[in-house]
Amino acid sequence: MVDKEQIAEIKNSVNIVEIIGEVVSLSKAGRNYLGLCPFHGEKTPSFNVVEDKQFYHCFGCGRSGDVFKFIEEYRGVTFMDAVQIVSEKAGIAIQNQARPHQPTLVNPNQELYDIHQEASKFYQAILMTTKMGEEARNYLHERGLTDEVIRHFQLGLAPAEGNYLYRNLSEKFSEKVITDSGLFTISDAGTVFDAFQDRIMFPLTDDTGRVIAFSGRLWKEAMDGSHQAKYKNSRSTRLFNKSFELYHLDQAKTSAKKLREMYVMEGFMDVIAAYRAGIENAVASMGTALTPEHVHHLSHFTKKVILTYDGDKAGLEATVKALDVLQDLDLEIVRIPDQMDPDEYLKKTSPEELASLLKDSRISKVEFLMHYWKPSYIENLQAQIEFVEKLAPIIAQTQSITAQNAYIYKLADLLPDFDYVQVEQIVNNSRLQQREATQKSGASKRSNFSVDLLPNRGMSRLVKAENHLLNRMKDFPMILNDYRLRSDFSFDTPELQVLYKLLCQNGEVTSQDLSEQPEGVQHAWYRMLEEDLPEEISDGELEEVEETRQRELLRKENQQIGNKVKEASSTGDAETALLELERLIAQKRRME
Ligand code: UTP
Ligand code: MN
Repeated sequence: MVDKEQIAEIKNSVNIVEIIGEVVSLSKAGRNYLGLCPFHGEKTPSFNVVEDKQFYHCFGCGRSGDVFKFIEEYRGVTFMDAVQIVSEKAGIAIQNQARPHQPTLVNPNQELYDIHQEASKFYQAILMTTKMGEEARNYLHERGLTDEVIRHFQLGLAPAEGNYLYRNLSEKFSEKVITDSGLFTISDAGTVFDAFQDRIMFPLTDDTGRVIAFSGRLWKEAMDGSHQAKYKNSRSTRLFNKSFELYHLDQAKTSAKKLREMYVMEGFMDVIAAYRAGIENAVASMGTALTPEHVHHLSHFTKKVILTYDGDKAGLEATVKALDVLQDLDLEIVRIPDQMDPDEYLKKTSPEELASLLKDSRISKVEFLMHYWKPSYIENLQAQIEFVEKLAPIIAQTQSITAQNAYIYKLADLLPDFDYVQVEQIVNNSRLQQREATQKSGASKRSNFSVDLLPNRGMSRLVKAENHLLNRMKDFPMILNDYRLRSDFSFDTPELQVLYKLLCQNGEVTSQDLSEQPEGVQHAWYRMLEEDLPEEISDGELEEVEETRQRELLRKENQQIGNKVKEASSTGDAETALLELERLIAQKRRME
């Protein structure tokens, strides 16, 4: 178990800017850091990391939190898992091992990792050493995989039995681990079955090489004629988030670092084909669309992506979609001919030819789109106009002037009714428009930004005063005590009242306390922290805040009474209207 001192120690020993910076590219903006929010799609940055207070806040989607909260949300894990992950980054777990008298921080997911490791060993042993494995191995040999390749990718076989894995692992692992692992399905009657049966098993690892999930491929025609998915993946678990993980990243990262580029492919067999062709820096997005999370994850290991999706219609469509999420990385594209995927291409040609296709036939985004968007009736003037107008902005974004010229030539060549000068003009116009747009958005971003960075933008004076008060309570126990003794005191803002109660109970609000509160309360806490107060309390500061608070409370009450008066008189309820009006006048007197 980790206690709250340890959690605080872990938090203090990391810098949120570095942790977030691993997955979001941040640039310094004033006293803070700014980047594209990883939680909502955006093109202009509104994700703000406040270094001196160690929290983040997105002005776009309103998410905020400390380093643990970030990991919770980004990785989709629990608070305690987030603590564990951050502690590993801080090297605190290692430190504890070195000093055995200190309580060791046990990874709460260790057993989940262990069960995957064990399962992977089982599956491998079945494939490599048993009679039933031999047939499956033959299937793989026929597909061109040698034993060396099978071992490198740690392929295995799940036997065609209901609960083989369960029988072998149930004694070693708790029921909870069995249930949480995603390796089993449990019937309503409580019977446990293996989730994977009679499939060739591909272990999926995290970027450090720990097995966190599996994908299993059918390798025989199903006898009962049932139509099952060709590949079946582990469901999402605490360890496995499909939108974040990339197949083979743990192995590919070393080679990608050296070569400064990474191939992104669709499937397992494609990555294996690349390996057979001597190319180790390839990962697979495993059939799903490439997500911004994938890209952030990748950008930690490479700045350049070679997009190598299947050559069929679905692959081309997936490529176009991926272009959007890959905007911040250098990009080249390989098109596999004849609607093949890399694995099929290798099979049809040779490892050498696949290698040369991957290395020598890369095209740029513009070339890809020029081909992809090319109208089938190029004679049609309307189609030509649409085509050139779609492509011009993309050509205009190209950095190199030489490349731009070449594209303009090529495009003009394709279009029967346009010549070079005309296309060039459209591209130039496009560039001007873009420049104006960025200047405008730059200007508005800046002005937005100064507003955004003003603490507590759009906040009522009342909430601001209450934030101020709570902020002081948090840092000055004497003030907190003072208020605690006033039995009639409460915050008007409900979220702040919840936080105040927590403070009263424990004298502090810890990351963990906060993680158990509803979103609104968590946000209120960080908004309060944004209040930029001097370290020392000045003379009369609290009195002034109290006064503002009281005045604003009265004003609010007046407004409510005023509304009631209006409501009552509009419904013809003269008596109530009069009564409320009297109250209003009495109030106003008190305020003077
Ligand atoms: P493909 O259908 O292209 O498979 O799906 P593949 O990689 O070429 O595999 P083989 O050659 O048929 O064995 C590409 C990827 O999409 C995911 C897998 O990750 C697969 O490698 N996929 C595909 C699934 O998750 N489920 C499926 O049913 C099919
Ligand atoms: Mn394929």
